[in-house]
Amino acid sequence: MSFLENIRDFAGKAATALLRNRRASAHTGLPEVMPRHVAIVMDGNGRWAKSRNMPRSAGHSVGVETLRDIIRACDDWGIEALSIYAFSTENWQRPKAEVDTLMGLLLQYFMSEIDELDEKNVRILIIGDVEGLPAPQREAVKKAMDRTGGNTGLKLNIALNYGGRQELVNAAKKLMKMAVEGEIAPERLDEGMFSDYLYTRGLPDVDLFIRTSGEMRTSNFLPWQTAYAEMVFNPVMWPDYTRQVFLDDLWVYASRDRRFGKVKS
Ligand code: FPP
Repeated sequence: MSFLENIRDFAGKAATALLRNRRASAHTGLPEVMPRHVAIVMDGNGRWAKSRNMPRSAGHSVGVETLRDIIRACDDWGIEALSIYAFSTENWQRPKAEVDTLMGLLLQYFMSEIDELDEKNVRILIIGDVEGLPAPQREAVKKAMDRTGGNTGLKLNIALNYGGRQELVNAAKKLMKMAVEGEIAPERLDEGMFSDYLYTRGLPDVDLFIRTSGEMRTSNFLPWQTAYAEMVFNPVMWPDYTRQVFLDDLWVYASRDRRFGKVKS
């Protein structure tokens, strides 16, 4: 890094820290208007690790710690549903070592967290193609879903081997098959019926969509369910995303004017 780049990097980090501290002191309580369903793309693990000369796997490990805090925050604050993007259908194309790390973390996660999640009455739902996961992970997630399926607290939806377009195509296929077999009349199909063929059947639409690391894309995560979601693109890397930063994002959400295509009366 040149001298100038060093100064720019330092100034950038100082400004971010300043902004975070200012924001951190700004909000101590919960806003009155809260989202029912929050979706998060936990991005930036790799960059977080690289900037510290650490392997990407270290970023993912710290990312799991962050996830634990944010799930606890959702539970403490009475948020109804949290959907997290843990592994997309495209992530299989990452280097094998990184895929193995993520799959290992996943297995470890279900072993170490399941007791606390169950105690907290959290219901775990895997959204994505569970059958396409390696056998140990497949068994672990099925066990977690069975064990917590009757829980009535936070609805924790973990997207694994998930792709939004694939979810829509799968729903269309099922509905077409039913139409061909005469079980439904095509003209009866409406948005409500279509929603029933998605992984998120029965859940409210996403109110707040958060992506960390400053990237401003939705990356095929819940395209149907986020049609009217408020988007927050937070520059903080996922391993640095604290419950205080999450609280700030909830305040950003509360400040938005949601009109759902209508005008204010
Ligand atoms: C994106 O960061 C993150 C992922 C693809 C994986 C997210 C996974 C975890 C936080 C841990 C595993 C989850 C569970 C449920 C145990 P990136 O690697 O794309 O970061 P970069 O954009 O900086 O490279």
